[in-house]
Amino acid sequence: MDKQAYRIAVLPGDGIGPEVMREALRVLEAVAVRFDVCFQFDEQPVGGAAIDVMGSALPEVTLMACEKAEAILFGSVGGPKWESLPPDEQPERGALLPLRKHFGLFANLRPSICFPSLAKASPIRHDIVGDGFDVLCVRELTGGIYFGEPKEIRDDINGRVAVDTMIYHESEIERIAHVAFNSATGRRNKVTSIDKANVLRNGILWRETVEAVAENYPDVQLEHLYVDNAAMQLIRRPRDFDVILAPNLFGDILSDEMAMITGSLGMLASSSLGKDKGGGLYFGMYEPSGGSAPDIAGQGVANPCAQILSAALLLRYSLGLTSAADTIDCAVREAIDAGMRTGDIFTGEKDTKKVTTAVMGEAILAAINEGN
Ligand code: IPM
Ligand code: MG
Repeated sequence: MDKQAYRIAVLPGDGIGPEVMREALRVLEAVAVRFDVCFQFDEQPVGGAAIDVMGSALPEVTLMACEKAEAILFGSVGGPKWESLPPDEQPERGALLPLRKHFGLFANLRPSICFPSLAKASPIRHDIVGDGFDVLCVRELTGGIYFGEPKEIRDDINGRVAVDTMIYHESEIERIAHVAFNSATGRRNKVTSIDKANVLRNGILWRETVEAVAENYPDVQLEHLYVDNAAMQLIRRPRDFDVILAPNLFGDILSDEMAMITGSLGMLASSSLGKDKGGGLYFGMYEPSGGSAPDIAGQGVANPCAQILSAALLLRYSLGLTSAADTIDCAVREAIDAGMRTGDIFTGEKDTKKVTTAVMGEAILAAINEGN
C-alpha cells in the first residue's frame, strides 16, 4: 500500500520568501526520506508575487490549495513595489490578514529563543541576556483592532478622520488565554498577560477574563503588565519571562521587540493555529517572524533558519511528526554550533563563518542526513 501523503500548501510569497522556502523544502524532503513519510507540496503564489501574475494577492487557486491541505507553509509578503496600491489590495491586507481570518487562526505562537551560541548577537548587554533565554509569545491573531469594525477613513466637517475599532469578546479572550496557560504548563509555569487596563476598556475585560481562566490552572503563576511597562521589562529582565499573553496589536509589537532582543530575527519561527483536529493537532499556518526583507532579497544571503524551524513547527503541531520536528530543530542547532552564520547573526566571533542561504541550508541538511 502507498504510504500516506501529507498535503502541504506552500506559499513562498515575496522578497526573501522564495529563497528561504527553497531551503525549507529541501529540509522537509530530507526528513521525509529519513522518517519514511511522504509530503505533497502544493506551491501557489501569494502576496505581491500573486498580484503580478494573477492580479490579486490571494487568488482563488491559492485559497483552494490551502483548503485542501493539512497545513500552510508561508514565506513572507509585501515590498515597496506594491505599497502604492489601494490598502485592501496590498499583500498584507489582501492576503496575510484574510488568510488568518478565513482559517480562524486565532492563536499565534512566537517562540523567542536566544541560543547560547548566539547570545553575543543580541544588542542587549551580556549580563542581562546571560546564556540565552526562551520566551513564548502567545498573540491573539484574529480579533482586536486589526479586524474590528468600523475601520475606515471618512470625511467629517473638520476634515478627514480615521477610525479603527478595538473590540474583544470575552470568548475570544478566554480561548487565547487557555492556549497561553496550557503552553505555560509544559514550560516554566508562568504567564505574563499584557494589557492597557489603565486606559482601555478592552484592557479591563482582558484582565478580568484572564484572571478567571487562570483559576483553572492553579500551578501557573500569573502576572499582569501594562504594555508600555512590558516593553521596558523585556529589555531589563528578559530571562524572567516564560509565556507572554497579548492581544493582537500589543503582541505584534512586543514580538518584534523580543525578536530583536534575541539578536536574530532570522532565527525565529512562528505558528498560527486554528481548528483543533483532535489528538493535539491543529490546522495551522507556519511562517518566519521576520518580514520579506526586500533590501536583501535575491542576493542569496538571507537566513533560512526561521523558515526551516517553521517547517518543524508544522510537523509538530499539524502533522504530529514529533521525531522529524525534533530532528530539524537539532540540525539547526548543530549548524549554528558548528559556526555557520548568515549575515544577520554574524558577529565575527572566533570559529564562525559568514555563509550564504544555500550553505546554511546545506549544513542543516547534512546534519539531518548524518544524524542518528
Ligand atoms: C506580523 C506582521 C503582520 C502583522 C503584518 C505584515 C500585517 O507584522 O505577522 O507580525 O501585523 O500581524
Ligand atoms: Mg509584526
